[in-house]
Formats: sequence, structure tokens, C-alpha cells
Amino acid sequence: MTVAIEMGHTTAGAAATLDLEELLATRLLVQGNSGSGKSHLLRRLLEQSAPWVQQTVIDPEGDFVSLGDRFGHLVIDAEEHTERGLQSAGERARIHRVSTVLNLEGLDAENQMRRAAAFLGGLFEVARDHWYPMLVVVDEAQLFAPAVAGEVSDEARKLSLGAMTNLMCRGRKRGLAGIIATQRLAKLAKNVAAEASNFLMGRTFLDIDMARAADLLGMERRQAEAFRDLERGQFMALGPALSRRPLGLRIGPTDTSPRNGTPRLMPLPESALEDARAIILAAPPPETVRPQRRSSPDLLDQLMAAKSAALEIRPEPVEPQVSAEDLAERRERVDRVLRAILAQPDAGFRVIGVLYQEFVVRCRIEGLASVVPDLPEFRRMLTRARAGLGSDMAAGDDAWQDVSVRASLLPDDMQGVFMMIARAAKEGWPCPSDAAIARAYGSHSLRRARRLLTYIEEQGLIVCQLDGVGRRTVTLVELAWATAPGDPNAEEAEQGSLAV
Ligand SMILES: Nc1ncnc2c1ncn2[C@@H]1O[C@H](COP(=O)(O)OP(=O)(O)OP(=O)(O)O)[C@@H](O)[C@H]1O
Ligand SMILES: [Mg+2]
Repeated sequence: MTVAIEMGHTTAGAAATLDLEELLATRLLVQGNSGSGKSHLLRRLLEQSAPWVQQTVIDPEGDFVSLGDRFGHLVIDAEEHTERGLQSAGERARIHRVSTVLNLEGLDAENQMRRAAAFLGGLFEVARDHWYPMLVVVDEAQLFAPAVAGEVSDEARKLSLGAMTNLMCRGRKRGLAGIIATQRLAKLAKNVAAEASNFLMGRTFLDIDMARAADLLGMERRQAEAFRDLERGQFMALGPALSRRPLGLRIGPTDTSPRNGTPRLMPLPESALEDARAIILAAPPPETVRPQRRSSPDLLDQLMAAKSAALEIRPEPVEPQVSAEDLAERRERVDRVLRAILAQPDAGFRVIGVLYQEFVVRCRIEGLASVVPDLPEFRRMLTRARAGLGSDMAAGDDAWQDVSVRASLLPDDMQGVFMMIARAAKEGWPCPSDAAIARAYGSHSLRRARRLLTYIEEQGLIVCQLDGVGRRTVTLVELAWATAPGDPNAEEAEQGSLAV
């Protein structure tokens, strides 16, 4: 059965259709400047396909909440839920096959990213039994998968970018079809854009966006100049679900309308405001306290920061009364506290918050309150310790620095695993078993360990190979260090050399 969604009409007047099944397998990218009609297009697509397939909309502006009234989408106001809550909501929406709109209106960029990532994570992580097809529409996708670091924390960006990468790169098997729209192709992370095989290009002014659009469509850049002349609601379509050749089309009308329509000119009030001066210039209401946003450095700074973190040469807060030796000695003691905590039998599987609390208390008891690392720093120490890396590793070793910088491109919790594998590769040790990887990741799940390896491989950092008898070798991309073949199913005890 093929289901053809009618999107509108071609310039020649024929019906322009979108093959829904094909779309599920090949994803869609919509690009056009502000006002070109992207959100309208998404709405048309959602309305037309609503009877056929489950949907979710990641909606930064609350534009799509009206789908709820007409088509029964559950509107989730992200502002009212925690990340954990949204992750469960994502999982349950899939399990119960309920269409949803995640309304992110009113949140700052940091929280929009974190909460969208949590919700997408829930959709993604659900058990295989629930991998039914689903459209996942992300409007203003550059907010969630920015090409460069913006004014949000590194962690939020990683979470969000990771979720979007998962959606576009690994979603298909799980039944998730990513449909993303952006004003500016140049602002969207390349790996996210590159995974769509269908394109709808609307009016585009800037050369840099036009050039990227032309590259994606396989057109001459000169041909792409035509995108400048498109009208509102007009798009150039290409891709297996749309058309095998570039096809001009005009998007048809929608049944519902955005809550925030384009502002229209309104007659001014008839009578002038009497006390205009007094009312407009009255003393402002007391300031409400807003949580301060963390400003973040640019990508280069972040890489440098990651590099120095990896080398343990981060600048210390100025504390004139403490000498360098003292500081080193205290750090060594902090390390010892951490090792003691990790030596407890179940430490590998306790949640980080609990471990951190215990760590802080013990540091205080030892008189180390002034040098207690903050939670992010603790997380880094923990990952390294779990992966069996001492803080002395590698200072002065250029290749190893390179590894640390690469590791910094992965989500925090995966970095230790990557470093552990890198270490095994560098030393020519056997490839760590699934059990060893799971433990370094703080998990019991061997399946999760294997997924993690696959993920790191998909990021282009490693290549995994199995030999004829099922032993695994991991090679680091570019550095070409390789582990010796190791049995993925080995008990962890056999790999004692990697224990903390
Ligand atoms: N095909 C169309 N037919 C009728 N009206 C349209 C069409 N496309 C867009 N419009 C109208 O044009 C206005 C702008 O469209 P829309 O909000 O979809 O733009 P956009 O590309 O999403 O812009 P932004 O990037 O700023 O969100 C809206 O009022 C919308 O209703
Ligand atoms: Mg829009």
C-alpha cells in the first residue's frame, strides 16, 4: 500500500504528492527564510498525514498547539515538566502511540535544548516492541542542532545535538522519521542536514545558504539562484518521496491555523490615551529574579578547554596562600577519596548524584572542602577513573592529547569508555569485553555496551571488526592504533589490567 499525501500543486497545476512510506525511510529537510512558509508546509504535512501515522512536533514557538483541538494531539507544555519527566513522556507516547506536540515556548535556549533532547531521548530509547513508524517534526531545527556553539552550555548543546543526530542518523530502524525545518541551512549542523534524502527548498536570500542547498540537491550553484525568486508557499522539491527531478510546487491550504499568526495592521484606537506620559513612564514593577544564563565560549575555546581538562592543567582559582605543592598534594588526596568510594562493591552502578554527595561529605571530613571539584568536574574524574585511567596519564604525549580532544566530541558519559578503548589500542591490549565496557559506563547492560560502541563508531571515531572466531578488534580512526583481538563475551575479571 502506498499512501500519497497531497501537499499542494506543481507549477504546471498537477497534484504534488508526498509518498508517506518512502518518507518514513528517507526523512525530509525543509529550508527557507523567515516567512517563506515552512511552518505552514509542516502543518499541511501533519494534517494530511494525521490519519495515517503517529506524529510528534518539537515546537519551539508553540505554533502547533492548535493541532490538539482538531486532531487530538496531546500538547505537552515543556515548561511544566522536568527533563526526567519528559523522557518518560516520550517513552509513553510511543508505547501508547499517542501523537504529541512538545510546546517549548517560554523556555530559554538552554532549557529548550535540554528538554527537547530528553523527550527525543524517550522516543528513541523505547524497547523494540514499540518501534512503530512515527513522524518526528522539528521546526527551527537549527536551535536544536546548531552548526556552531551558541550561548548555551556545552552540555546542553551536546545533549540536544546528540538527540538530533540520533533522530536523523539512527532513527529509521526505530521507526522514527525525522522531518526538520530551518531558516538557515548554514546554521544547521552538517551531519544532521546530510541525513535527509528529501528536500523542500523555499525562498532563500543568503549566498552561503544557497550554496549549501545546491550542494545538498546536487545542483549547480547558479541554478540555486532560483531560490531567491520563490514566493511565500512555493518550494522546490527533490527526493525519493517527492520527485526524482527538482520540481516546483505550491503548498496548499491548511485546516488549522497557527496560534501566532502574522501580525496584521490594525486601526489605532480612536481616542488618545489620556495620561500617556504617566502610564508609559510609570516606575517599572520590581524586577523578578531570572536565573542567570551561562555564557559559553566558542568552539575553539571549548576544544582548548577540553584539552587542558584532559591534561589536568586547568587553571586553579587564585589562592595565594596555597603553594603549588600543597595544591598537588590536596588533589592527590581528593583522588584517593574518589578511589576509596569507587572501591565499594556496588559503586559502579550507583547514580552519580549519590556518589557525588558521598564524595563531598568525605572530602569535607578530610579537610578538603576548599578543593572539592564541582559536579561536572566530578563527572569527568569519575569517567576517567571508571575507565581505568589515572590522572597522570599522558602528559606530554601528543598523540594521547589528540585522543582526549576527540573524546571531548562525545557526550560526557561516553568519553571514559572511548578513552579506555583508546588506551587498550595504544598499548596493544586485547579489546575490552562488553562487560568491561558496560562497567566503565556505569551500567550492567551488555546490550547498552554494544550500542555504545556502535554509536562511537557511527561518530567516525573508531572502527570495530570481528575476526573468524568472534573476537573483536577496535581501531582508532586516523591514529590507526588497534587493540589486539579480544573476546566480547569475556567475563570482566579476565581483563583485570583495566580495573580501577
Ligand atoms: N502556502 C501558503 N498558503 C497560504 N498562506 C501561507 C502559505 N505559506 C505560508 N503562508 C502564510 O505566510 C505566513 C508565514 O508563513 P510561515 O509561518 O509558515 O513561515 P516560516 O517559514 O515558518 O517563517 P519563520 O521561519 O519565521 O517561522 C503565515 O501567516 C502563513 O499562514
Ligand atoms: Mg516558522
